[in-house]
Amino acid sequence: MSYINNELINEIRKKNDIVEVISKYVELTKRGKNYFGVCPFHDDHSPSMSVSKEKQIYTCFSCGKTGNVFTFVSDYEHISYIEAVRLLAEKVGYNLGNIKNKKTNNQDYEIYENSVKFYQNNLYSSLGKNAIEYLQKRQIDKDTIKKFGIGLSIAKISLTDYLIGKKYNLDNLIKLGLTNEKANDIFVNRIMFPIYDLNGNPVAFSGRIYNTHDNSKYVNSKESDIFKKGKILYNYHLARSYLKKNDSIIIMEGFMDVIRASTVGIDNCIATMGTALTKEHIDILKKMSDNIILCFDGDEAGAKATNLAISLLEEYNISPKIVRLEDNLDPDEYILTKGKDAFLNKINNAINVIDYKMELLKNNRNLNDVEDISQYIGSSLKELAKIDDDIVVELTLKKLATNYDIAYQTLYDKLIKYKNDNVKPKIKKIKPQKEPVDKYQKASEYLINYMLIDEHVINMVENKVIYFPNDNIRYLANEIIYYYHKYGVIILADLISYLANNEPLLTTLRQIMSLHLKENYTEEEIEDYIYVVNEYPKNMRVNELNIKLKKEENPLEQAKILKEIMEIRGVKK
Ligand code: UTP
Ligand code: MN
Repeated sequence: MSYINNELINEIRKKNDIVEVISKYVELTKRGKNYFGVCPFHDDHSPSMSVSKEKQIYTCFSCGKTGNVFTFVSDYEHISYIEAVRLLAEKVGYNLGNIKNKKTNNQDYEIYENSVKFYQNNLYSSLGKNAIEYLQKRQIDKDTIKKFGIGLSIAKISLTDYLIGKKYNLDNLIKLGLTNEKANDIFVNRIMFPIYDLNGNPVAFSGRIYNTHDNSKYVNSKESDIFKKGKILYNYHLARSYLKKNDSIIIMEGFMDVIRASTVGIDNCIATMGTALTKEHIDILKKMSDNIILCFDGDEAGAKATNLAISLLEEYNISPKIVRLEDNLDPDEYILTKGKDAFLNKINNAINVIDYKMELLKNNRNLNDVEDISQYIGSSLKELAKIDDDIVVELTLKKLATNYDIAYQTLYDKLIKYKNDNVKPKIKKIKPQKEPVDKYQKASEYLINYMLIDEHVINMVENKVIYFPNDNIRYLANEIIYYYHKYGVIILADLISYLANNEPLLTTLRQIMSLHLKENYTEEEIEDYIYVVNEYPKNMRVNELNIKLKKEENPLEQAKILKEIMEIRGVKK
């Protein structure tokens, strides 16, 4: 949140009353001081989430989710914190548009914006006729050209000269992958597709050959400070803005596939641009939607990419749906030859992972032959044994039983056998004999809890606590102290905003909030917690001194060490 100031965020928060905002998503009923509703963040059957009008905080007594109005909207809508701030800001008449630019208004972005415009102008110049024809032949209309910022690089019209004329520095153009060391354009006579980062800034290009032959169909910008391939998904920013709650997100290989889908009104598509899916991609996808559909090219390479993507997504507990297109077609060709409805039909009938894997297992088997059937069913059950969802398992078993006329129980027994095979022998872990850290943790959590409630506790912690053993709690305590000195008061809902750019600390804070520790305390209790926490660094020091003592041979030095140990022990009691 470094680039929107906290005062403004707090102002926006105050204008978005949490009860009103959450009411739009969840029905709330007033009970006593607070409001209650069914928690949208877990499978809740009775109202477990309480919303405090006074504190402007929500908290679920079942799953522990808690936070302020921004974290609610961010988690509910699967958008980032800053997007949630922006959304709520717009609702109350603030436009944060130019504020975002403060950070992104760096020259690199400016250069790319200028380049996109430059290439777009080329396309409509007299030298762009063939390119326009090519696009028309591919049924890319004017609106689509505009929507995706499509342009043209032309040998005779130098982008490098143009940008240098605008006083940009040559080294910068080289660094950004637009110009080579000889000051010539990297992209020559190609149709130019800008690639946008997650915020919608152009940060790279992919240039396609059109009516010539060349070894590489597409040339891409090299990676730069603003362009990291594994962290970008083509069309993220547009798809994100079209995405409604519960929409699925369709992952394709090529950006031409995404562009084609958009020409027939399907806007929830993104492309990996020919690279394998990465962990960073998955983090981005998780924020977009819970429903992911893989729709890669219909060829062998697309099948391989599908399998790889399934494995990676499963590592992150995401079970995608799968679409395989016939006749080796990619989504672009499929839509063009078979039509929008045929494509939508494929998407609406995307199959789940186990069905997909079982389809693959049919390959090269003669399913009229009893031995082949037995092998097929055996392999399928082995896959099924890995699945946790009982309902999926039961439905799949029933399907197999019906399709191959086998008793359900037979299949079930075999599945259980495979499931047992899967259970790995548990290795006993020997826990190191340490003092339990738990008591330090517990005392620290209580102290943080009371720091949030009473300024007096902040002062006590500041003056008396030597060292919180847990790193995040230590940093969090420092932030709370700093925040208190700066603003003179702790408003929890605003403290959350203040910490929003520091994910680990925000998580620590939300965890402590979700413990629902009691609110009233005595001075004596606080002294006790501080005493417990301070035991930790003292014990560490005593251990250190004992080791030193054993090594020390000089009696005078030994006496000094002993004295220090006694002093520490003495302070202890
Ligand atoms: P494809 O070869 O499937 O491209 O590559 P496509 O989408 O069908 O493109 P058209 O229809 O021929 O125009 C998928 C993606 O892989 C990357 C591009 O990002 C492309 O969108 N790619 C492909 C390259 O980077 N370089 C290449 O030479 C080819
Ligand atoms: Mn294609």
